[in-house]
Amino acid sequence: ILAIWHQLTKTEIPELTRVSVMMRERSRVEDTMYAMQKAGAGSLQVISDFDMTLTKFAHKGKRVPTTHNILNNKLLIDDDSTVKMKELFNTYYPIEIDASLNPEEKLPYMVEWWTKVHDLLIQQRIRKDEMARAVRESNAVLREGCSAFFDCLAEQRVPLLIFSAGVGDILEEVIRQNHVFHPNVHIISNYMDFDHTGVLQAFKGQLIHSYNKRAGALSHGATLRELHGQPNVLLLGDSLGDLSMADGVSTAQNILTVGFLNDQVEERKESFLNSFDIVLLRDETMDVPNAILRFIV
Ligand code: C5P
Ligand code: MG
Repeated sequence: ILAIWHQLTKTEIPELTRVSVMMRERSRVEDTMYAMQKAGAGSLQVISDFDMTLTKFAHKGKRVPTTHNILNNKLLIDDDSTVKMKELFNTYYPIEIDASLNPEEKLPYMVEWWTKVHDLLIQQRIRKDEMARAVRESNAVLREGCSAFFDCLAEQRVPLLIFSAGVGDILEEVIRQNHVFHPNVHIISNYMDFDHTGVLQAFKGQLIHSYNKRAGALSHGATLRELHGQPNVLLLGDSLGDLSMADGVSTAQNILTVGFLNDQVEERKESFLNSFDIVLLRDETMDVPNAILRFIV
């Protein structure tokens, strides 16, 4: 088996031998990939997080904005609110990624963060028709090779479920402006509810934050039912909370999980390695997911 693996990584997937790639159990990755290859594209679906997974963590030395942070724009909200949003980010993001706290301990803080920001955005009466411009003016950027990833999935008719605790309206605009909002893309996220004049009045449905994606997955039965014909799942995320995104796929046979470890790398390495099949250290590209995809389809 080792010899076969050696051959597989050396000849077919050189990307997996990079120093930035870590695996707890190579043999499990190998078995899963062969099983997925055997079943082919027709059995595959991809479930991916959005912020810091399909988008970069940093670009040209600067942090890339999340969908929430794209809304932190003077075009949409007043000066006091831009400061407030930044302060909330600086308060709660360190808690979100704190390696010394478990998800249950983080949960109340996450609810607090999302609730405060959503209330602020509603108070600021954000306009639907300014949304596209805010995205255009932002430094939102997809990972290198991300367009190829979207295009390949569309060509092979592999469903892509983007499961984001960000803002769905902004997420859609980002992928639209990158010309990758193909018909195979499905989205579960926090969507804005605008009144008849196009002003934000609420957020729709149950709040999704980084650590309740399991509940979100189970409550979106209808979206996920369409994906029930595809028992093999390639899951991409940048947070331990992203691992539950596939919990709604009751028919799952093989699941291969890839975790982008962007921040607090040393502190979180062990927990990521114990949780994701493949861990990518400070990798701003889609090279590994693209290579896996090429191997499977
Ligand atoms: O797509 P994803 O599920 O990653 O989107 C959620 C991310 O957005 C969180 O990981 C969090 O860091 C970020 N966030 C933010 N501002 C908020 C709430 C969440 O930047 N107000
Ligand atoms: Mg994320």
